[in-house]
Amino acid sequence: MNEHHTPSSPGGAVYEPTEYVHEKSWLTSLEQYQELYQQSVEDPETFWAEQAKEFLYWEKPWDKVLEWDFDDPHISWFAGGKTNVAYNCVDRHLHDGRRNKAAIIWESDERKSKVYTYQGVYNRVCRLANVLKAHGVKKGDVVAIYLPMVPEAVFSMLACARIGAIHTVVFSGFSATALRDRLQASQAKVLITADNGVRGGRINPLKAQADEALLEAPSVKTVIVVGRTRQEVDMMPGRDVYYHEEVSRDDISSHCDVEWVDAEDPLFILYTSGSTGKPKGIVHTTAGYLLGTAMTSKYTFDIRDDDVYFCTADVGWITGHSYITYGPMAIGATSIVFEGVPTYPDAGRFWDIVARHGVNQFYTAPTAIRSLMRSGDEFPNAHDLSSLRVIGSVGEPINPAAWEWYYHVIGHDRCSVVDTWWQTEGGAHMLTTIPGIMKMKPSAAGLPFFGMQPVVMNSEKEPSEAATGEEGRLCIKFPWPSMARGIWDDPGNARFKEVYFSQYPGLYFSGDAAVCDEDGYIWLKGRVDDVINVSGHRIGTAEIEASLNSHPEVAESAVVGFPHEIKGEGIYAYVVLKDGVDPDPGLDQILAGLVRKNIGPIAKPDVTHIVNELPKTRSGKIMRRILRKVAAGITDKEQYGDLSTLVDETVVDQIIDTRPHK
Ligand code: WTA
Repeated sequence: MNEHHTPSSPGGAVYEPTEYVHEKSWLTSLEQYQELYQQSVEDPETFWAEQAKEFLYWEKPWDKVLEWDFDDPHISWFAGGKTNVAYNCVDRHLHDGRRNKAAIIWESDERKSKVYTYQGVYNRVCRLANVLKAHGVKKGDVVAIYLPMVPEAVFSMLACARIGAIHTVVFSGFSATALRDRLQASQAKVLITADNGVRGGRINPLKAQADEALLEAPSVKTVIVVGRTRQEVDMMPGRDVYYHEEVSRDDISSHCDVEWVDAEDPLFILYTSGSTGKPKGIVHTTAGYLLGTAMTSKYTFDIRDDDVYFCTADVGWITGHSYITYGPMAIGATSIVFEGVPTYPDAGRFWDIVARHGVNQFYTAPTAIRSLMRSGDEFPNAHDLSSLRVIGSVGEPINPAAWEWYYHVIGHDRCSVVDTWWQTEGGAHMLTTIPGIMKMKPSAAGLPFFGMQPVVMNSEKEPSEAATGEEGRLCIKFPWPSMARGIWDDPGNARFKEVYFSQYPGLYFSGDAAVCDEDGYIWLKGRVDDVINVSGHRIGTAEIEASLNSHPEVAESAVVGFPHEIKGEGIYAYVVLKDGVDPDPGLDQILAGLVRKNIGPIAKPDVTHIVNELPKTRSGKIMRRILRKVAAGITDKEQYGDLSTLVDETVVDQIIDTRPHK
């Protein structure tokens, strides 16, 4: 219905890599990529052992490169090896000529910036690590981080890594209830938060939200509060302390010994949405994760030593973990941490940052590109974007119109656009276009990164023949170092197995639909499970339905995605009220408020449609396929497919007739 947004298919425009990018790229030819790729799949153990030596410091070498099983899922890389993520991301650079190099450039919402060198980061991370230890945090304990985009978010992640604690970052846009659920599920001992967050000139009362969550999260014994706005907030004696006071105490040293951990010790838990039930705590471990993020930071973004790299993601999502903190810092890059929003003070904000800091690599999401494209070319044209070489996209399929705008208006027809497909569970880029050597096809993610063995499975559950253009489901055949090792609190990996390894026995199932073309380029077609991708953020329909159903007048609900011009997908909620309840005109708002309270503002429905009944099959299953069509504005029943299993087809007519006009 919305052509502007629909991802394209094989057969469209193709752009060759430019000399401007190629003259400096780490990989110098497609043949070189192919050769390395062959090696990475023919002899993965040798390939990854070499890369692990090149990219990481090892305190003790590993005993075994790889052990794996995709039937009864178990994945282990470099077991027995000892290393430490913070050591690799910080300490190493004190001795490799980067001590005084900018590690982090923090750009505040108010357009002020602050530079932290690797030495500066080292001192801060060590002090915070000592503070955590003083509050009883030990190896294997969980520390929750509920912070806005302040440099302390990065220091907190690294401080945990330094002492072997496991962090779980909770996106600061999530509500108190969502935070509470994650604190309870992870049994966090310490929470690091801020008095307030600041975004687009608006204040987000984080400490107040945290306090509400903490009422029902008794595992948290200490709360460390970063003073972002330094406004007075409630502090509970004996539990709450101020970050700046703690780290500057006289008895806190700016040196902290590294805890050498096993390659397979957990580094972090990150909660993400799935088809069913509550969010899953995806577990990433130490060495494989760091290797994947370091290697992709080098080759996908093509970062050189004097470059400035800017990823616009939030540290609350995997992109922020892998490509603001860990990957760039592992290779000693300069990474921008941006607190604000793309449209404040105006729609030129990103381009202002690019010009002022001389950004060479820029990484953002299609939703941001579409919204900035709509604001007009005068914003990018008012800034000097000539420092850019590589511009990346992540989070959802990028539609050709947005791709072209990105390439021409932001990249001035000479930058490489890297469309990186990956997932929280993958840890690092899985499919991508490598700059300078690979041709670019607007809307295709590209080729597999080293070691990735993708396969598109057709409806017969057979690998679809490449180049037939047959759409199927994207699976991965072989383990890669940065893949998730499991789900937190999942005895015997039962849920891990069910979610990722049961649909296609022996394969990892991504949840995405895809087509492979004759060049091996993979075109992503969106999620096939009940996950909606709103502005590049993954939201489970089950979570939204649970919020709607908690209203006393709601009998049941069904939530689906629909094409949305800016967000990629919007949220469409079908709601059935209990017998005898008259819909109150303000009900939409009340329901939206419930979702905001339980999850956060990003999960609020765009459309709430009160219906008499949901279309169900005789076995009681909701036919979501029909609901998706109606939500997309398709009212011709001929296009709905087989309706014969429905209990009552008139339910569908009623839904079509009462569809709200948008
Ligand atoms: C989608 C974000 C098409 C996909 C890194 C995936 C993409 C989900 C792309 C993971 C892309 C991410 N092209 N689709 N370049 N990148 N996706 O876990 O549906 O927040 O399964 O990780 O985002 O979302 P997640």
